[in-house]
Amino acid sequence: MQGFARAYPSSCTQRKVLSSKGCSNSFLPASWRKVGVHRPVQSVAAAPASSLEKQVSLFSPSKVNLFLRVVRRREDGYHDLASLFHVIDLGDDMDFGLLPEGATSETLECSDPTVPTNDSNLVIKALNLFREKTGIKRFFYVNLDKKVPHGAGLGGGSGNAATTLWAANELLGRPATTAQLLKWSGDIGSDISVFFSHGAAFCTGRGEIVEDVAPPLPLTTPLLLVKPPLGLSTPTIFKSLDLARRSQRDPRELLASMTEAGQKGVRALQEFCVNDLEQPAFDNLPQLAQLKTEIGHALDSSAVFMTGSGSTIVAVGSDTAPACLLDPKHKDLFISPARLITRKSGEWYKPSGMWSSSPQ
Ligand code: C5P
Repeated sequence: MQGFARAYPSSCTQRKVLSSKGCSNSFLPASWRKVGVHRPVQSVAAAPASSLEKQVSLFSPSKVNLFLRVVRRREDGYHDLASLFHVIDLGDDMDFGLLPEGATSETLECSDPTVPTNDSNLVIKALNLFREKTGIKRFFYVNLDKKVPHGAGLGGGSGNAATTLWAANELLGRPATTAQLLKWSGDIGSDISVFFSHGAAFCTGRGEIVEDVAPPLPLTTPLLLVKPPLGLSTPTIFKSLDLARRSQRDPRELLASMTEAGQKGVRALQEFCVNDLEQPAFDNLPQLAQLKTEIGHALDSSAVFMTGSGSTIVAVGSDTAPACLLDPKHKDLFISPARLITRKSGEWYKPSGMWSSSPQ
């Protein structure tokens, strides 16, 4: 599928040329001054290019849940999960710079005007957490070029937070180990820790207890991601889960069976791609159940399931949108091919390099 152009919906592809009024990015390297950059949350005094002491650009990946079992509802309102997560190559581009010593606030810029760039953004939460845990009071410039849709069950924001922790650690000479970053990340979200695995992980607890596993499928396995314009709210989906309607499958057995089936081909996978959150997601958004059925019929040799709390439907076994999705009624769908990815120890994730819009 070399050269396959990713089909992003307008909200993802449109790089609106926004005024950079109020945005003092003149101190950035020219290659970082992108269109679409806007709205610094907390601006720093403009500094000369040389003021960014160190810079790094990183790929911020997303994830799919190849299966997701909800084990129990907890007293703190969360749910214990047992889920096979896999990092994928649909991701955002992030640029980081270490602001001069003496800077007292962060600058976060984002290409998507619907993404808040204040303290509620997981990037800012990650930097606050990093300072709190390391005791190093340094601040950062961050530019986030968003491509992963939100409300999608793809963990795009969580990937941004993990990438931010990794970048801050790199820019400060690695004061923390990867194991520490993993442990700390559980304080600000349930889906962040998985990105500090090597890419395939069996996760329990809220999702923050991470056990590295071998990728259950060849990394060359084609994936297709399909998301309707409506996103789903994770808390709402967890709250509307009817515990009585969950799968009865044992998560460890699912892991073993999926790994075994994965060696035989994708056709054998479907029965193991269980997601207990499909029931509340489909109850909240009946069109999503129809979409899954439609894709399942069209790609009958693929395994088709919802990831996370939705609303993305994943097909494992094909990365080509079936003809039914080209119908005008589906014109607003987000459709993207993807691949499973892993990272080497000591390195961050890199895009697979397969897609023309994600150049290496
Ligand atoms: O941890 P995170 O911020 O990603 O979770 C968002 C919301 O999703 C939580 O406030 C909770 O309502 C729900 N959730 C849950 N059980 C989990 C993870 C998330 O109930 N394991």
